Amino acid sequence: MNMMNNETLEGLRASYEAFKARGLKLDMSRGKPDAAQLDLSRPMLDMREDFLSEDGADTRNYGDPLGIPEARRLFGALLGVPAGQVIVGGNASLNLIFDALSRAVLHGPLRGDTPWGRLPHAKILCPVPGYDWHFGMCDTLGLETVPIPTREDGPDMDMIESMARDPAVKGMICVPMYGNPSGVTYSDAVVDRLAAMEAAPDFRIIWDNAYCVHHLYPEEARRDHLKNLYAACAAAGHEDRALMFTSTSKMTFAGGGVSAMAGSPKNIARQAELMTYQLVCYDKVNQLRHARFLPDLEAIEAHMMKHAAIIRPKFELVLGVMEKELSGIARWSRPRGGYFICFFAPKGCAKRIVSLCAEAGVTLTPAGSPFPHGFDPDDSVIRIAPTYPPLEELRQVMELFPVAVKLAAAEKGVLR
Ligand SMILES: Cc1ncc(COP(=O)(O)O)c(C=O)c1O
Repeated sequence: MNMMNNETLEGLRASYEAFKARGLKLDMSRGKPDAAQLDLSRPMLDMREDFLSEDGADTRNYGDPLGIPEARRLFGALLGVPAGQVIVGGNASLNLIFDALSRAVLHGPLRGDTPWGRLPHAKILCPVPGYDWHFGMCDTLGLETVPIPTREDGPDMDMIESMARDPAVKGMICVPMYGNPSGVTYSDAVVDRLAAMEAAPDFRIIWDNAYCVHHLYPEEARRDHLKNLYAACAAAGHEDRALMFTSTSKMTFAGGGVSAMAGSPKNIARQAELMTYQLVCYDKVNQLRHARFLPDLEAIEAHMMKHAAIIRPKFELVLGVMEKELSGIARWSRPRGGYFICFFAPKGCAKRIVSLCAEAGVTLTPAGSPFPHGFDPDDSVIRIAPTYPPLEELRQVMELFPVAVKLAAAEKGVLR
């Protein structure tokens, strides 16, 4: 690849030093909503009506351990199952995922299954690049993480089908729509193969559908669509395989929303049974606030388009600069939703790029974090999270980022 005259190693170093001298301090390390997005949900806090849920229960009091009916119905609609197959939780879907995995480790997914923690090995397939929290929770629970490459339409299914035949492989954990950070949405064919493949009877797909309604564009044709995993599993005779999760963290308040888990009647009954002495009930006042503020899918759609209007220009800014400055040097995802752009630097450059940015005052997600144990074999992937900084700050980051990429590549001798 050719460099322009001002992009000699010396020229790039000079541009980099000039940026560094500005003494900026910008944080792009996590996929957090912008304050303007959080403001969209302020009216939800104005709870002047009564506190009664549809079943007449006072949400301020104990009761409804599986969630209030209107919240179960809402999440059922989001996840594509009847309300009775939903448990509405507290403020974090990660908490529900962690609990479901912990129960599998301690007790086995269903009654009669061997607890995964008693097996010599319990392996979880992890499509990469993926979400660092998923990998960390598997490590915490003693589950072995097995990285699986992601293609344009989802994980490498040949590899998954072949590995899932191993009875020590107990599951898969993934973000199937607008993946964090891949941006990939699994195709119908991938969903069907996951549902139909041969696997241990206690194999579970942890389907973290965190970005299920997080489109960037209003037009249907510019959105991804995800097939219903539960329906596909049920059709293939494996209805207990799917454990699906989502939350309103990126709809209302991140860390102050409501989460939900859905699955087969047997799975939900088992989770409910094992929850009995864990808590009396989750925060139902927050469930009611949410169900009144976002009563149905139409209300969610209207609300999410307000989010999209705030964050779309940020994605377009980042992608535009990458297109202009980095075409032919690197590649990246062009997501149609979610919270991340997945940047693939020239091999061996990601760590250097992230550290160059850090030295110049811009914190990015650590290189390697989208891989189990932080190990990116190509040292290439960088997760770009454009949602949080105001547009003006993002503009400054995007002055630095291409310089850092080119400088790292030039130092490696990848750019000549
Ligand atoms: C894929 C994915 N799952 C879960 C979460 C966190 O969700 P919650 O706040 O509901 O735990 C995030 C947040 O970034 C995420 O990207």
